[in-house]
Amino acid sequence: MKIAIGCDHGGFVLKDAILSYLDQAGIDYVDYGCFDESSVDYPDYAAKVAKAVQSKQADKGILMCGTGIGITIAANKFKGIRAAVVTNEFCARATAQHNDANILGLGGRVVSPEEAVKLVDLWLNTPFEGGRHQRRLDKIAEIEEQNQIK
Ligand code: RB5
Repeated sequence: MKIAIGCDHGGFVLKDAILSYLDQAGIDYVDYGCFDESSVDYPDYAAKVAKAVQSKQADKGILMCGTGIGITIAANKFKGIRAAVVTNEFCARATAQHNDANILGLGGRVVSPEEAVKLVDLWLNTPFEGGRHQRRLDKIAEIEEQNQIK
């Protein structure tokens, strides 16, 4: 399992705790930055992580900004990406079981580093349920395919 991880300045506060968790769990990762709290643009980091997941250089991604929302919106512009911002344990579990979310979004101004680690752990260790949920993901993929304007 390889994780691509990235954040803007608003999510930076969560990154060290999540990297320590990944280290302790023996999970390989690539850190795409940012590397301090200087102001940056979250779409740049969403793109790096989304590309790594889309190209299968990474199995899953973790993205953090102030709310987790902007960076998740940006990641979802990449075909095949299902990025979900979560703020509680129910949603972290559900987005693995039902959405097979391949990127987890977290807000550094919303959850504490300890909560973020718990949410990452739940998401990584909860299996996708398939069945009717796969049918719905297939419909999302169909919408993605049929609604591109050139
Ligand atoms: C940056 O100030 C902030 O807008 C960003 O981190 C994020 O919350 C956007 O959704």
